[in-house]
Amino acid sequence: MTDQANDRNRPQQVERLNRIYLHLDRLEHNMRVLERCVEGRPLWPCVKANAYGHGAVPIARRLLTLGHNRLAVADVAEAAALTESGIDATFMVLAPALPEHAEALVTLGCEPVVCTLEMLRALSGAAHALGRTVPVHVKVDTGMGRIGIRPDGVGEFLEACAGHPGVIIRGIMSHFARADEADKAFSHAQTEVFRGAVEQARAFGIEYAHMANSAAIFDVPEAHFDAARPGVSIYGLAPSATIANPQVQELEPVLEWKTRIAFLNELPAGAGVSYGHAYRTARPSLLAVLLVGYGDGLSRGLSNNLDVLIGGVRCPQVGRITMDSTLVDVTALRGRVNTGDEAVLIGRQGDERVTVDELADRLGTINYEVVTGIQTRVPRIAVQGPEH
Ligand SMILES: Cc1ncc(COP(=O)(O)O)c(C=O)c1O
Repeated sequence: MTDQANDRNRPQQVERLNRIYLHLDRLEHNMRVLERCVEGRPLWPCVKANAYGHGAVPIARRLLTLGHNRLAVADVAEAAALTESGIDATFMVLAPALPEHAEALVTLGCEPVVCTLEMLRALSGAAHALGRTVPVHVKVDTGMGRIGIRPDGVGEFLEACAGHPGVIIRGIMSHFARADEADKAFSHAQTEVFRGAVEQARAFGIEYAHMANSAAIFDVPEAHFDAARPGVSIYGLAPSATIANPQVQELEPVLEWKTRIAFLNELPAGAGVSYGHAYRTARPSLLAVLLVGYGDGLSRGLSNNLDVLIGGVRCPQVGRITMDSTLVDVTALRGRVNTGDEAVLIGRQGDERVTVDELADRLGTINYEVVTGIQTRVPRIAVQGPEH
């Protein structure tokens, strides 16, 4: 087959109608807001879980250009995937790894979180075998009750780290359980426990003590220590509705989720709509079909409980959200709406706006889960200018 014939068989560019638009200028803005909060301390942004659903590669790439070159990931597989995609960063691996991952962690130049002697031994062995060193972050459980060594075992564990050739104790860290709550009593108690661990770790030459997530960056300044690990806030989302620091209001959402009308369906009054007929038209209705569904991460739990922006107005979603499609009642726009028109699931259109928090409230969950649930089959498009 000739090259020309080959080209004819190959579609130019095929992308789904529903897309995530990433306003990377807002990511940069949010990083500046956070930098001000921590008074210039290093920030190690969390790009785990596909950058909270935003798309880890474009997010990591922009963070690197902004000079943030230590990025937090969940596990070694995420570090490997990002490295494979050309992201040349130092990955701090937050979850405990198993010894079988030691070689990959060292090869990739990761900075793993450690809290077991078994892993310490495996990392030291891998570093020796590869002729390298491995910087680690010792994790202390100050009250999250999830991962880490007990505060009274910190001294002994640091001694063990120091006794393992090739292991460099880069940092000591902990994680908050309740920093997003209005009552900060438990967070203050956790910070004090951590302070005791940090004092011991300083004698071992650690470079960084770090504890603050987004909520603590805003509201627990005494926990800023030497560096912070913001996640949700870099994406312009508030860690909770009860953050007191007014700087949280300056965050700008990075993500918009949009699609276009694929089909317009005229239905008579009394017609059942979508699976189970969970909605029935009360009048002759014009319904817009959007090619986005729970297979893209638009939760089925939002069925009959969601507004979509079309023609600059809020239009009610009707019937069950299915795997690949969703119906919206656009009867009010009859004569002013066409196939191909834009529909906004998250973001702005005209004067109207649907936020991630609105969807989270409707679902009875947190904004973290809404964005993290957006599936990888949805293309992520980086918006370069200030607005598109
Ligand atoms: C250990 C650790 N540090 C930092 C973060 C970032 O938290 P946030 O997204 O609330 O800023 C997370 C998130 O889950 C985490 O697990």
